[in-house]
Amino acid sequence: MALISWFSLALVAIATSCTLASPVRGPLETRASNDGAFSPPYYPAPKGGWVSNWAEAYGKAHHIVSNMTLAEKVNLTTGTGIFMGPCAGQTGSVPRFGIPNICLHDSPLGVRNTDHNTAFPAGITVGATFDKELMYERGVGLGEEARGKGVNVLLGPSVGPMGRKPRGGRNWEGFGFDPVLQAIGGAQTIKGMQSTGAIASLKHLVGNEQEMHRMSSVVTQGYSSNIDDRTLHEFYLWPFAEGVRAEVGSVMIAYNDVNKSACSQNSKLINGILKDELGFQGFVVTDWLAHIGGVSSALAGLDMSMPGDGAIPLFGNSYWGYELSRSVLNGSVPVDRLNDMATRILAVWFKMGQDQNYPLPNFSSNTDDEKGLLYPGALVSPIGVVNQFVNVQADHNITARAVARDAITLLKNEGDLLPLRRNDSLKIFGSDAGPDPQGLNSCADKGCNRGVLTMGWGSGTAKLPYLITPQDAIADISPTAEFHLSDSFPSSVTANPDDIAIVFINSDSGENFITVEGNPGDRTSAGLHAWHNGDDLVKAAAEKFSNVVVVIHTVGPIILEEWVDLEPVKAVLIAHLPGQEAGNSLTDVLFGDYSPSGHLPYTIPYQESNYPASVGLLQQPFGQIQDDYTEGLYIDYRHFLREQITPRYPFGHGLSYTTFDFSEPSISIVTLLDTAYPPSRPDKGPVPTYPTNIPAASEAIWPSNFPSIWRYLYPYLNKADATAAAANSTKKYPYPEGYSTTPKPAPRAGGAEGGNPALFEVAFSVEVTVTNTGHRQGRAVAQLYVELPDSLGVETPSRQLRQFEKTKILQSGESETLTLEITRKDVSIWDVVVQDWKAPVRGDGLKIYVGESVLDERVECVVGGECSTL
Ligand code: BGC
Repeated sequence: MALISWFSLALVAIATSCTLASPVRGPLETRASNDGAFSPPYYPAPKGGWVSNWAEAYGKAHHIVSNMTLAEKVNLTTGTGIFMGPCAGQTGSVPRFGIPNICLHDSPLGVRNTDHNTAFPAGITVGATFDKELMYERGVGLGEEARGKGVNVLLGPSVGPMGRKPRGGRNWEGFGFDPVLQAIGGAQTIKGMQSTGAIASLKHLVGNEQEMHRMSSVVTQGYSSNIDDRTLHEFYLWPFAEGVRAEVGSVMIAYNDVNKSACSQNSKLINGILKDELGFQGFVVTDWLAHIGGVSSALAGLDMSMPGDGAIPLFGNSYWGYELSRSVLNGSVPVDRLNDMATRILAVWFKMGQDQNYPLPNFSSNTDDEKGLLYPGALVSPIGVVNQFVNVQADHNITARAVARDAITLLKNEGDLLPLRRNDSLKIFGSDAGPDPQGLNSCADKGCNRGVLTMGWGSGTAKLPYLITPQDAIADISPTAEFHLSDSFPSSVTANPDDIAIVFINSDSGENFITVEGNPGDRTSAGLHAWHNGDDLVKAAAEKFSNVVVVIHTVGPIILEEWVDLEPVKAVLIAHLPGQEAGNSLTDVLFGDYSPSGHLPYTIPYQESNYPASVGLLQQPFGQIQDDYTEGLYIDYRHFLREQITPRYPFGHGLSYTTFDFSEPSISIVTLLDTAYPPSRPDKGPVPTYPTNIPAASEAIWPSNFPSIWRYLYPYLNKADATAAAANSTKKYPYPEGYSTTPKPAPRAGGAEGGNPALFEVAFSVEVTVTNTGHRQGRAVAQLYVELPDSLGVETPSRQLRQFEKTKILQSGESETLTLEITRKDVSIWDVVVQDWKAPVRGDGLKIYVGESVLDERVECVVGGECSTL
């Protein structure tokens, strides 16, 4: 099955155009081409190694790379080909130095397509917890499982897409529709994962906000996300900057173009922003089959091609591999660029300690059988043991359940219908409460919506090792509960006055290589409505029963208007995408063992037309879609506030079974912002140096008697090609405009991982005491929003989330004092002229709000003045 889905990926172009032929409902538009978008050249690629934290790892890498041949270096940079190993992709190895094929494998919520793993809750669920510790703990679990299976690089977390398009297929893989929620979710996950020695790959840089047309086909080119400099910095790059600050080892480049230059060879994006300004020390890898040019991408700063294949997968061709060896020999790619690629890759490997007892892959994502083809992509492949069925679950089910539970977001609870009592008379409706009738994991990569929705579909999935459905968990507690798990309301059901109906509905989305019920990844045909007649099911239940609870499993915003105000619909909760512990986490909350403490990681609107017109899905039969980010920073709640549109439920909303009071707020200045721009950046430290002469052709020639696998990708050239390339080294490659080998002056906004370290010094610290004023235990989230002053000279959103903290479980009457810290960057705008972050001097005019949602403010602080409760 996995194999089939990979073929589908390779053929995604065809699938995409077929999908578009079918009629679609909702705001799908075409756009005129945008001639203004432009991505300036930025060369040469900055070398890695200048940050002191990385000095030791770079030292080790330098020692080895100094002794490597041309072919060995190239082998580290290029995947061995699709299906040419157990993982989604693997590099070549360098046995002489004990470097194995480096295994890169999905996903952001668990090890994909294997066994005895944990299927953790998805990113959107993690975001809804607003709990930094759980974010970290889940990261540790992910890292431990990756390591246990022998995955060197786990392909996650995802912080792009950012939810710009509510219908976008992959929003659920990330942490929410706000850059700071994404940034904290991403950074905590990275730190947790990498604490185990597994390398995280932060993805997808950047602007991959819709699934359709993300890749090129015979008739279309992957869309161009046209993003202005300020919006890029203040919104879309923010979580990537925090990921780099968390020392992420790898960044995955998106399929699409940014400002008309393909991300995989966009020199401004990789060389300029990621490596120079953000000081990224790890390696940059393509998204799968996103590589479209050999020399161009090398010069633009790409370090690794995955899975290595060229334009047509499985044909044994690559833009790198053999071709990279050739282009170094003929002088097109400077040898110091190749040295930097290899050094970056090895430095990450050393930094995470993968040279010490890191397991080799003991699973295969290509088959569930114990034995199988070692290289399924080859015409003739040896067979061997590929699955050792290693159990890596440990006690991660506890974390999985805690995340799913603490994410559950109570939207309404009239008359305190919830929590339920154990002897309540319950009638349960909707297929979303039960199992997949065709069996656990019955469709590859979750490319179907059957039974309870535990995750979206595509590469961002993992197999469920087991599934506790809501039905299982409810039946366990309430033996008299009656289940009617169909999508149409049973006419025969009788309603007694004491009955409580619980209706389960869902909304799904996923990745473009699978179309589910007419949705090609993005929610084209379903729109933002419940699937499987969910709205009708709730309405029918509300007609018959006077007490109805609605439980929603959803990838993102969903319109509730057909029923949310109906009198019998007393309680509504969003359980997001809970993973394997769907049922237990839900009953923990439904029956009151825990109060709900999740908060919405996005806004729920009254109707889809509440969003800016520019965030609809785009389609176009030919050419390239120009996706202009004309709404700028005004995504999700920022837009609703500016346009004064009341949402149905605001960003950050989430009720509890208890209530909280915020008191004794105070603000203190930690670092005085005595200048608008940060103090000068530190200089770069030294980077490893190597001889720059072109290596001998013999370093890339096939070793004699080499047992090669047909169509596997190797770095070697035959003798004639190698000699010809070397002889050609005086011929000049047609370098792109703006190409230079002289390093650019260091960008003033840079200086360390994530940017100028002065940006991350704590400027203000806000304290607030949270007291549980109700009668049950519960956890509160304090969300801190800033309102920047007009003196900055540009319009800014009236509220921007910049920090959050969550209390422990507070008993009735108990208090906890929370400290929320904000940095210089948190109160700055990106000055596009100066190319630096500009803050209000001393924080003059800055206002800070702390509350339980963006519209439920409890505390206001004026910098330089006082804080008051509201
Ligand atoms: C997805 C990536 C994923 C990769 C490898 C691509 O289609 O966009 O997120 O990591 O495949 O499976």
